[in-house]
Amino acid sequence: MAVAEKAKALKAQGRDIISFSIGVPNFLPGEHVYAAAHQALDRDSGNYGSNRGPDGLLDAFLAHFKRNGFDGFERKNLCVGVGAKHVIFNVMYAILEEGDELILPAPYWTSHIDIARILGADIKVAYCGSEQDYKLTAAQLDSLISPRTKLLVLNNPGNPTGMVYTEAEIRALGDVLSKHPHVWILSDDIYNQMIFDGLGWHHLLKTHPHLRDRVILLDSLSKTYGMPGWRVGVAAAPVELAQALVTLNSNHITNLPEVVCAAAIAALTGPQDIPQKMAGEFMAKRDEVMATFARIQGLSCPRPQGAFYAFPDVSFAFGKRHGAATIADDVDFCNALLDAKGVACVPGSAFGEPKALRISYTCKAQELTEGLKRFEEFCSELH
Ligand SMILES: Cc1ncc(COP(=O)(O)O)c(C=O)c1O
Repeated sequence: MAVAEKAKALKAQGRDIISFSIGVPNFLPGEHVYAAAHQALDRDSGNYGSNRGPDGLLDAFLAHFKRNGFDGFERKNLCVGVGAKHVIFNVMYAILEEGDELILPAPYWTSHIDIARILGADIKVAYCGSEQDYKLTAAQLDSLISPRTKLLVLNNPGNPTGMVYTEAEIRALGDVLSKHPHVWILSDDIYNQMIFDGLGWHHLLKTHPHLRDRVILLDSLSKTYGMPGWRVGVAAAPVELAQALVTLNSNHITNLPEVVCAAAIAALTGPQDIPQKMAGEFMAKRDEVMATFARIQGLSCPRPQGAFYAFPDVSFAFGKRHGAATIADDVDFCNALLDAKGVACVPGSAFGEPKALRISYTCKAQELTEGLKRFEEFCSELH
């Protein structure tokens, strides 16, 4: 990603750079996770492990799904992967033949579209602009489904927008999907513990339990437990699909390392106050971001209610200049902001929305305040 690379290079040259560009939660898991990893290392078998995931980890995920209100899964419904990204690859690989249609609401997370492209899918992008709060509507979905549609990807809360679907919105999408039994749904739920304002997390499997034979739940430890580098993701799916994922694992990764599994079990079964505490912190940061945006004339931003991203529409700046730099689009905006103020954001075109940019607000409180101050200054200097 060009802007992120440039930010890194500038930092290496000693420039004072504030990065709003990286989607990592920026906290470490609790001590109990490290203790479990150390213990596992002491008794490591050195052997191959289960392609599906060891029983202890599967059971910890089953308990996690149960906590989230999803009953009735068994070990045979699960399969782990090297992070959710790997699971997404496996799921798409298992479901899509070259030329099959996949419906992807935009703004989308970059790997959702990249993986589908790698697999040669026929991608139908459902453009969901800021005027519809970046959310897919039932009417849009209905109009896009064809006999060739194999898969819908639904990401809630969403990256890059931080949007959260209401129960009525999920119910409406579920009504449409109920009419089209040939469509699988990949429900990318990895930000499900990061929901603000007391909103609930609503899910197709709760509004429409009969979709169970074609919904894949996707979860990950990366964001919830501050463990992106540990690489643990999971799918809960109908038995045959889970088995297909196991077969894929057996032919590429074989298994997750024992140490990683032990750490994951500790995170899933240990104190659950960490995700809650972090969601509280992210909500306060979201408020600070939105308070800054409210002062910037012309900028609009649907209020994020989850994850740790904000996705402002910055098209008011297009056609203006900052110093000698002309800002024709989102990439120019991000480059000029980085050059002039040392603040790195990701252009919205990376996510299929070239009017916007993504701010990831997980950095330290002081950095966030300083970065937002510079962002506001930059906007006020446009002419
Ligand atoms: C929506 C979404 N899905 C999946 C992933 C991948 O997560 P993991 O680190 O578990 O591979 C990310 C990571 O940024 C994401 O934003």
